[in-house]
Amino acid sequence: MATTRTFSIIKPDATRRNLTGAVTAKLEEAGLRVVASKRIRMTKEQAEGFYAVHKERPFFNDLVSFMISGPVVVQVLEGEDAVAANRKIMGATNPAQADEGTIRKAFAESIEANSVHGSDSAENAEIEIAYFFKPEEIVG
Ligand code: PPS
Repeated sequence: MATTRTFSIIKPDATRRNLTGAVTAKLEEAGLRVVASKRIRMTKEQAEGFYAVHKERPFFNDLVSFMISGPVVVQVLEGEDAVAANRKIMGATNPAQADEGTIRKAFAESIEANSVHGSDSAENAEIEIAYFFKPEEIVG
C-alpha cells in the first residue's frame, strides 16, 4: 500500500474544548503524519463552498453555521492508505454508532458537533487539500 495524503478538519466543538492535541495524538497513533496544519476561522463563503456537495441536504445551513461558529484546524495527513486510515480512526459520522477507540466515540458531542472531518476518497482529498493549502505549505 502506497503512502498517500488526506485532508482533515478538527471542528469547532473540539477546538472549543481544547482537544486539538488529543485529536492529533489519535491521528498520529493511527500512523498518520501531520504534514500541514493551520488554525483558521472559516468564512461563511468558504464553508458553503467546501460543503457545496451537501447544499440540498436539510442540515446544510446548520452545518455551515456550526463550522463557522469557532476556530477549526485544517490539516494534511500523510500515511499508508491515508484516506481509509483516517476514516477508520475518525469513526462513524454519528458518535452513537462510532466504534470504541475512535475519535468520534471519544470526543464527539452529536452528529453535528462530531469533532472531525476527513476526506471520503483520494480524489476529494486532493480537491479539499487544494481548497485550504498552497503546495509550499505542505512539508512531507
Ligand atoms: S453522507 O454524504 O451521507 O455520507 O453524509 P455524511 O458523511 O453522513 O455527512 C456529511 C456531513 O454533514 C454532517 N452532518 C450533519 N450536520 C448537521 N446536522 C446533521 N443532522 C448532520 N448529518 C450529517 C456530517 O458531520 C458530515 O460533515 P463532515 O464535515 O463531512 O464530516
